[in-house]
Amino acid sequence: MSTMVPTLPLQHLNPHIGDGSGMTGQGSIKSTNITAIESRVTLQDRIKRSGHSGGVLWFTGLSGSGKSTLAIELERRLFNIGYNVFVLDGDNVRHGLSSNLGFSHDDRTENIRRIGEVASLFASAGFIVIAAFISPYREDRDRAREASADDFHEIYVKADLSLCESRDPKGLYEKARRGEIADFTGISAPYEAPDAPEFVVDTGQLDVAKSVTALAEYVAANFVQQQD
Ligand code: ADX
Repeated sequence: MSTMVPTLPLQHLNPHIGDGSGMTGQGSIKSTNITAIESRVTLQDRIKRSGHSGGVLWFTGLSGSGKSTLAIELERRLFNIGYNVFVLDGDNVRHGLSSNLGFSHDDRTENIRRIGEVASLFASAGFIVIAAFISPYREDRDRAREASADDFHEIYVKADLSLCESRDPKGLYEKARRGEIADFTGISAPYEAPDAPEFVVDTGQLDVAKSVTALAEYVAANFVQQQD
């Protein structure tokens, strides 16, 4: 098979890619002598097969706010009704893709940069990606948004620090208070709540079932399933 050299703007290949100027939402590209290949499967082809467009549901919130719980429940619910859906979760990703990163500001920024790019690729493949990361810095979340443009939905999983600390599902707040964990979000590192998220789930007010229903309704309204 011959190598396809694109003559169209790179956005045609992947709607989320940069404009070919060498600048992406993440800064300048280091590599030189790189040429993108053109897929012969279009976005429309993918939508026709799966019945819906792809996109990123970016869950942000404190540790213990419910991000992972809601992500896996929502994934199950959406899968059951025919969506292509996949969860990217902080604790899981830190065992692999981000295993060389810790919790300093710079490391979190790099973690979120990687996930933002991976989520964008999954969305381009037609998946609904549920990304569940504390992602405490607005600037980092904004970069993740740039990577997926209009297909990015910021979802604030809202719960007060005092509530998260009382839940303390992993016993980490207790350790952080004892000074056994450095840079712990909410205790010794900041959390910047979203200014204008597309959707808010207040897990202090709603139980898991109601939260998942609210999220599934949001998806139904924003990712229209098409009939043949
Ligand atoms: S992020 O800040 O870079 O977005 P991420 O979501 O990947 O964080 O990972 C958060 C998870 O790592 C938490 O749910 C918790 O289990 C664990 N963790 C370990 N150390 C810390 C820390 N210092 N601050 C926050 N979470 C931590």
